[in-house]
Amino acid sequence: MKKNILIVGGSSGVGKKLAEHYINEGHTVCITGRNNPGLASARFHAFGVLDQASKLGCDIDRLVEEFPAVNTLVYAAGYLQRGHIDDLDDSALQTMVNIGLLAPMMLVQRLKGKANTPLKTMLITSSSQYTPRALEPAYCAVKSGLGMFGASLVRDRGVGKVLVVAPSDINTPFWAGTDEDTSTMLDPGWVADQIVDLSSGVFKYKYAKLLRHPSRVEVIECLDNDFQRI
Ligand SMILES: NC(=O)c1ccc[n+]([C@@H]2O[C@H](COP(=O)([O-])OP(=O)(O)OC[C@H]3O[C@@H](n4cnc5c(N)ncnc54)[C@H](OP(=O)(O)O)[C@@H]3O)[C@@H](O)[C@H]2O)c1
Repeated sequence: MKKNILIVGGSSGVGKKLAEHYINEGHTVCITGRNNPGLASARFHAFGVLDQASKLGCDIDRLVEEFPAVNTLVYAAGYLQRGHIDDLDDSALQTMVNIGLLAPMMLVQRLKGKANTPLKTMLITSSSQYTPRALEPAYCAVKSGLGMFGASLVRDRGVGKVLVVAPSDINTPFWAGTDEDTSTMLDPGWVADQIVDLSSGVFKYKYAKLLRHPSRVEVIECLDNDFQRI
């Protein structure tokens, strides 16, 4: 069945690789970001997350209006934010909460029940979901919260499958402007392939880590429709 797939944060990195995959499979794909990558056959909706929650709600209303009957939401938007908690100002904290938590919540709230199939949700978190880091207090908090959001959504019978994927470091523009050696990081194409594989098959909830050295997938939890472990 051909689906409407919305990839928030699909303009770059892993989200863009996922978009290419789903386009090749013949699905209708809408990607969002601040910059249009000019991906042939994908719709692009300019969507930039700032620090104002009220603007975020209006921007999400517009996005959902333009691409309404979404079968699958892939939430890949995120950015590197480093600094001790007292190095991050109010605007930085608010923006991280908006992009990491509020935007995906507002999207699922608006998209649930709008398509002819239960909404399938794929959330990309990070190893920061389960690894506390002194220089990533807000990033770790929102990624951890996003994982719990996914696990809680599953308990809603009106929601479809939920996949939470927590990747380790990936060689993408995420690291632009830093001096990190990205050459040994996970390949974004490999990451996208694992996400596609993990999302297929029968399950209600799946939580998996994508790890490095060697590149591998670890499924932490997989539940069926009765919340029994598979
Ligand atoms: N790279 C890593 O090492 C790594 C590791 C673990 C988890 N992750 C997570 O994986 C996801 C994908 O990241 P990636 O590695 O593919 O990085 P990426 O290439 O930088 O892609 C990030 C995406 O998020 C969008 N985005 C960033 N800031 C935004 C903002 N303020 N408003 C709206 N959209 C914004 C970007 O769009 P525009 O630039 O067009 O705005 C882009 O589409 C993110 O959630 C990230 O936190 C990354």
